[in-house]
Amino acid sequence: MAGRAYGPSARNALRSGPGADPAMAYVIAETCIDVKDGECTAVCPVDCIYEGGRMFYIHPDECVNCAICVSVCPVDAIFYEDDLPEASKPFIAVNAEFFEDDVTGWGAPGGLTEAFRTDQDHPAVEGWATDPTP
Ligand code: F3S
Repeated sequence: MAGRAYGPSARNALRSGPGADPAMAYVIAETCIDVKDGECTAVCPVDCIYEGGRMFYIHPDECVNCAICVSVCPVDAIFYEDDLPEASKPFIAVNAEFFEDDVTGWGAPGGLTEAFRTDQDHPAVEGWATDPTP
């Protein structure tokens, strides 16, 4: 497992800490697609970043807004919801819907484990056009 495991009550305490808005989360945007560096999962203290086929996804209810992942992503794919560029705003829904019935149906896994890795992606990511340049 990548990070330190916190139970649900510890996560809630972290999420409600100073400066944290429990309705907000960090979001992985399109720059992750087909890059999948994975360092974000290694540093996430609550293991809330999950692997899909072409990108990783942050669970919006499990993210504690620590921002550690932002500093390690080599392609700057991770944003606080409010800071997403306009063109990347659909990725708020992409990250959330990845866990819903129409995609993985995982709900709230409570932390990344081997049981929660998949080749599936959100439909918007499955159909994402690849860069034609070599
Ligand atoms: Fe993707 Fe960056 Fe994580 S490329 S897997 S968001 S470190």
